[in-house]
Amino acid sequence: MKLGILTSGGDCPGLNAVIRAFCKYAFNNIDGVEIYGIEEGYLGLINRQYRRLYPADVENILDLGGTILGSTRTPYKLMTVSDNGEATRLQTMVENYKKLKLDGLIALGGAGTHKTASLLSVEGCNVIGLPKTIDNDIYGTDVTFGFNTAVQTAADCIKRIRTTADSHSRVFFVEVMGNKVGWLTLYSGLASGADGIFIPEISYDENSLAQYLKKRKADGYRSTIIAVAEGAISTREAAMGKKERKDYLAAAGNASAAQRCAAVAELNTGISCRATVLGHIQRGGDPCAYDKVLCTRIGAYGGMLAKQGKFGVTVAVHGSKLSYNSLTEIAGRTKYVPADSQIVTLAKDMGVYFGE
Ligand code: F6P
Repeated sequence: MKLGILTSGGDCPGLNAVIRAFCKYAFNNIDGVEIYGIEEGYLGLINRQYRRLYPADVENILDLGGTILGSTRTPYKLMTVSDNGEATRLQTMVENYKKLKLDGLIALGGAGTHKTASLLSVEGCNVIGLPKTIDNDIYGTDVTFGFNTAVQTAADCIKRIRTTADSHSRVFFVEVMGNKVGWLTLYSGLASGADGIFIPEISYDENSLAQYLKKRKADGYRSTIIAVAEGAISTREAAMGKKERKDYLAAAGNASAAQRCAAVAELNTGISCRATVLGHIQRGGDPCAYDKVLCTRIGAYGGMLAKQGKFGVTVAVHGSKLSYNSLTEIAGRTKYVPADSQIVTLAKDMGVYFGE
């Protein structure tokens, strides 16, 4: 059996742990298996850039952050577009899959990776998706690998902001990754005891924010920490049309979500406000113990599915068990934070401010 494995899209801690577990399972359980590491994500399949992986290649990478195979974002929307009548990227990948005589392709990635995996699967390639992303937004799985490590990293950073905020009686808006969904902000905000949590799924009101901050000051709190998702927007911004919002953001110097919060809050309250953007620090470093176990399970389970010839699926976590969903069923869908979910409601009930 010849299997290809690639990592695609934004990286996260735990990719190498999954590669290791998948390879170890395959080497130990599939007679005569050959594994090919496709380099730089789908780009490697397009350009036929790959190398054979041997057992020694995946030793001692359980803890290693990043990906030994490299990764690129190969925009999904460009996959089926051809210039000048040339083959599309999708067609090229299908041809190369056949030229390499692969029996299966294992794609570690997030939402975009899964959309492409689904296209390849529909074109007749045997694909298994493995759910990676710090955003935790893949539809149909309770959790993705990399998420819990990023929660830990972001929460540690937010906690560090608290002491300096207290020293100076300041308000801090700490920006956490997550352009469309707020899972990472919600979890890291709760894990760090943030006073407020702003996520894309719940728009914050600028007047309410000013009143909230003034009241906290009047009540004697020295500092206020608000965890703000990269994609959080105010009700005023949400009401704008696409073009109006683009112009508004350009006029604001394309300030990030947390920077916009800090600017408007300071203007409306006169309280000293600061913004800290955590950025890619959330994607770097070693996976936490939880993720190392999850990655090991997911990688081995992916190997088991390949052995069984179960393709066209992506691995999913349901409660304490692993199972799988069909790629075509989950592709193009997003797992948002339900605004009325129990976790949000309980947080609100204990006083966490969501900007409403
Ligand atoms: O999807 C993971 C993610 O880290 C998002 O949270 C973030 O919006 C995006 O990737 C950043 O992408 P890039 O690394 O391409 O700047």
